[in-house]
Amino acid sequence: MQVRRCAAVFIEPRESIDFDLAELALGETGVRERLGWLALAAHCDEEIPVDAAEIAALGALSPSHWQSLDELSQRHPRAVLEALLAKGLLIAQEPAEESSRRFEQADEAVRAVHWRGLSAIAHRHTRWRDVDSEAIEQLFAEASSQTMLERLGPALPVVPERASASSRLPLEKPSPSPLDALMDRRVTCRNYDPAPLSFDAFSAVLYRAFGARAVSDYAPGVQLLKKGVPSAGGLHATEAYLLVQRVEGVPAGLYHYHPVAHALEPLRELDAETAASLARRFVAAQAYYAGAPLQIALVSRFERNFWKYRNHAKAYRAVILDAGHLSQAVYLAATELNLGAFITAAINEVGIEQAFGLEPMAEGPLAVCGFGVRARQRVTVEFDPAHKVWP
Ligand SMILES: Cc1cc2nc3c(=O)[nH]c(=O)nc-3n(C[C@H](O)[C@H](O)[C@H](O)COP(=O)(O)O)c2cc1C
Repeated sequence: MQVRRCAAVFIEPRESIDFDLAELALGETGVRERLGWLALAAHCDEEIPVDAAEIAALGALSPSHWQSLDELSQRHPRAVLEALLAKGLLIAQEPAEESSRRFEQADEAVRAVHWRGLSAIAHRHTRWRDVDSEAIEQLFAEASSQTMLERLGPALPVVPERASASSRLPLEKPSPSPLDALMDRRVTCRNYDPAPLSFDAFSAVLYRAFGARAVSDYAPGVQLLKKGVPSAGGLHATEAYLLVQRVEGVPAGLYHYHPVAHALEPLRELDAETAASLARRFVAAQAYYAGAPLQIALVSRFERNFWKYRNHAKAYRAVILDAGHLSQAVYLAATELNLGAFITAAINEVGIEQAFGLEPMAEGPLAVCGFGVRARQRVTVEFDPAHKVWP
């Protein structure tokens, strides 16, 4: 059998703390601290416990050249190599068993995209699956009588002043412009009207935030887009995947937005109940965002960016920045039409990947945003200290 090490793996010495309830009942602290090694691999969602012998072998196995398992067994204990194979850290070439085939395919998916190893690990292992922020808040409230502010203590001051007030060089504020008025009214919306959003407003915001204003044939086989937002390398690797709940003339369902055709590509129609439940799952149970008429998962097609920025230290950061620019464009385009908008990074990436059928290391959701008509009443808090939206 030919084997090689997986493409990217990092080893973390982790201290974990458990509570032993039986000990606790006997009046002791019940706290158990355990220190151990975990392997975080770019092709596995699980964190894999490993021992010192396995780590030593991992450090000596090539991730690029296939080698015979029998030959490697002359240099490393066979039991260690077999343990690494069973854990998916050592990959078998064209294996017969289903579980090994899944490891091989997942490892190939990482290799195909030209990830920087550290970024790949960070991306894979910071994704959420089935996180419920409401339930977590409830647990915190039950576990402690302290408020969040009491627990955290004071925050750093708003401004890190680096010179005395007398030495400042004063600048002039510009006379108010339409852009100022728009930015003043940009307030994250957590209260949405239950009525459907008009088709025209829906279509206009999508175009202004995500639509391509020109397509450039940059070189043979390389097209770039011109959009209203900047993007690393002009590649615009971030796609808009939509979960529509209430938009006039658009059946509830999952869609992909085509930025050149300015059109929706239907992926799956949903009944209202399933759409609402998916919306809740996407935003980790933040009910105020699940109540928006639509959600847009900002999904980075890593391979498009990493085609140019191959194995590059800054590439992952650049695609995350792209998502930030797109979301601000959603906010401004929505605000111009007197709509409210939101963005959240507290998302269940795994649920979004499954709903849209995305291979996680090739196409990854980085944030979810959305927009809609503001409710007449503010039930959930919004940050509007200048009273530009809520008098
Ligand atoms: C990257 C990012 C992540 C955010 N995540 C959340 C979130 O998980 N939940 C939420 O209610 N708001 C979230 N927000 C919205 C912020 O809370 C909001 O921008 C902030 O309170 C300031 O309010 P403003 O946007 O109205 O100025 C996020 C904003 C950004 C930029």
